[in-house]
Amino acid sequence: MSSHSSAIAYRLEAARSVVRDAGQLAMAMRPAPGGPAGTQKSAQDWLTETDGAVEAFIADRMKTLFPEDGFQGEEGGVARDGQLRWVVDPIDGTSNYARGRNRWCVSLGLLDGDKPVAGVIEAPALGEVYTAHVGHGAFLNGKPIQVSPVKEPASAMIEMGWSNRVPREVFMEKMDAIMRLGAMPRSGGSGALALADVACGRLDGYIEIVINLWDVAAALPLLAEVGASVSPFLANGGLTGPATILAANPHIAEALSAAVSIPLK
Ligand code: IPD
Repeated sequence: MSSHSSAIAYRLEAARSVVRDAGQLAMAMRPAPGGPAGTQKSAQDWLTETDGAVEAFIADRMKTLFPEDGFQGEEGGVARDGQLRWVVDPIDGTSNYARGRNRWCVSLGLLDGDKPVAGVIEAPALGEVYTAHVGHGAFLNGKPIQVSPVKEPASAMIEMGWSNRVPREVFMEKMDAIMRLGAMPRSGGSGALALADVACGRLDGYIEIVINLWDVAAALPLLAEVGASVSPFLANGGLTGPATILAANPHIAEALSAAVSIPLK
């Protein structure tokens, strides 16, 4: 392993431990099942006390461990610049978390310049952690993962992310295209976990019309490692603002891309 690669591996190990502790903090603060606990940034865009607490916890730990690295959070924006930059979504799937549901995660990705190089996605309520280091594998709870072998749309399960950033007509048009293709539709409320599901074969594809870097930063290394087909999210503006993403197993990616009109190149 080159010294640069060793530096990334060392960081991934540290991130794994920080995210584990952050997940436990989120579990301790987790609302009981019931009506949403939190406030709305805008209609249907939830914020809980835990989002801020987990982001502050991770920011603090990463600053102590790697003061030379940049840091960007969903809630706090870009706090520091650096060749290596951590990108955190403290709770991805906040709408689920706020109602005491299980499908949410803590997501921490590492970029080297504009390249995603490593990521940790921990879903404490599901007992699952995904890790990836580009060039060195992608894992779910320590076991190697791979994309699904599904080729036929009639056997495929495709998720589409929803947010209030996308007009209803546009969402419905893309969802309709997924169903016309013959795939089974899903929408689970966590972009990071949906992308991880594509990487480990639980889903055959995921699309979201408007999604942010912190939702995808930790998942991109997973997808790269398993050879998933991914639209050029970063090149299309995702590094600095919201952009569209399509990720799919390579067998079905072209058909999905054509159906929903999201180019793979
Ligand atoms: C949201 C989730 C959701 C996706 C939205 C994101 P948050 O992130 O990932 O699945 O559809 O685009 O904003 O608010 O739970 O961190």
